Amino acid sequence: MRNLPDGKDILDPTLYAGTRRPREEATTLPHWVYTDHTWFEREMATMFRPAWHFAGLASSIPQPGDFRTLRLLDEPLLVVRGDDDQVRVFRNSCRHRGSLVVEEPSGNCRGLRCPYHSWTYSLEGVLKHAPGLDGHRREELAGLGRNLVQVPSGIREGLVFVHLGDPATAPTLDAYLGNYLSTVAVPHQTAQMVAVHEREYVLDSNWKLYVEVDMETLHTQHIHRGSIGEQPVTTPHAEGHWIGVHHASEHTPALHPGERHTGFPHTKGLTGAAEHGAHFSILLPGFFLVTAQDVMWWIHKIPDSATRTRVRVGYSFPGSTVDRPDFDDVYPRYAKRLDQVVEEDDWITEHQQQGLNASPPGCYVPEEHVVHRLDNWILDQVLGDRDAVHD
Ligand code: FES
Ligand SMILES: [Fe+2]
Repeated sequence: MRNLPDGKDILDPTLYAGTRRPREEATTLPHWVYTDHTWFEREMATMFRPAWHFAGLASSIPQPGDFRTLRLLDEPLLVVRGDDDQVRVFRNSCRHRGSLVVEEPSGNCRGLRCPYHSWTYSLEGVLKHAPGLDGHRREELAGLGRNLVQVPSGIREGLVFVHLGDPATAPTLDAYLGNYLSTVAVPHQTAQMVAVHEREYVLDSNWKLYVEVDMETLHTQHIHRGSIGEQPVTTPHAEGHWIGVHHASEHTPALHPGERHTGFPHTKGLTGAAEHGAHFSILLPGFFLVTAQDVMWWIHKIPDSATRTRVRVGYSFPGSTVDRPDFDDVYPRYAKRLDQVVEEDDWITEHQQQGLNASPPGCYVPEEHVVHRLDNWILDQVLGDRDAVHD
């Protein structure tokens, strides 16, 4: 639904002046930014295409030939470790006539074979065999670049990132991350993490509703009354394209309040704020990562459309924890609590979406000040040069 004032362009900055005001006086983003296709396309062009996106843990593909497939921004991708031990990301699309090359979500292989006409590629993406073409033509095709198309990627502290926009204008990965690594990834030892559970599903809600709920603590005592309770936070200084909060506690946030003393020991080597609490951070636009003393989990939001969001959830622990003899006995308590909280947030974002159409602007209370910052970052990206007003 689109309910703009008569004659207004949806990108007219004056429509968003209320959100630009100081938090105490600000009004929330107009409802159409959660439903409108034109606005959504602009978000894709200004936020999602220029961004670096999380594509999994390097520890999930430890051996040459190990691979993972995923879809990001509606593009099929293949993450594979080559014989040279390098992790590469390719478009999972055959250079003959575009079929998916690999269908399985994960596995190990010695080469990559398209099921349609059996063109085969090495683990490094080089075309090796092309049935139907004689040797001469095959060499010609190789010369013309019929290898799998490689996507810019990088690994930092065990996290694999990809870029799906124009490489000519892409920020470097390190510029994009800013102090995310030194504040979140390094102190929390993300390189040690091993994924023990991953799943993906689609919600009928706009992606922003889900990142907004991640960044406010007002709802935890209501939506997560039994699973989290109150969770006061502070806001660390963020440079680069991320925002986050820190919850100080000597106990894990990943177990039910009555069970927090029954978890795994803290990860060895944690430093600074990581030793005394958990960071809840969003690598913008949509990668929500929680790094606690004993566990790391993510809820990655990838929009399919203005009102549909693909959600990729993952739970991970240090390798030394996964190797513990009691891992299978203790882990179910984490899984139960983490699943419950994800379901509660899934529910409220779909519920909120249903109430948005034609609603007048709302407000931001003190516990929602990071949501106010987040919404202003979104306006910065979408409106760009059109908007000279910043608070
Ligand atoms: S489309 Fe892949 S071999 Fe023909
Ligand atoms: Fe929540």
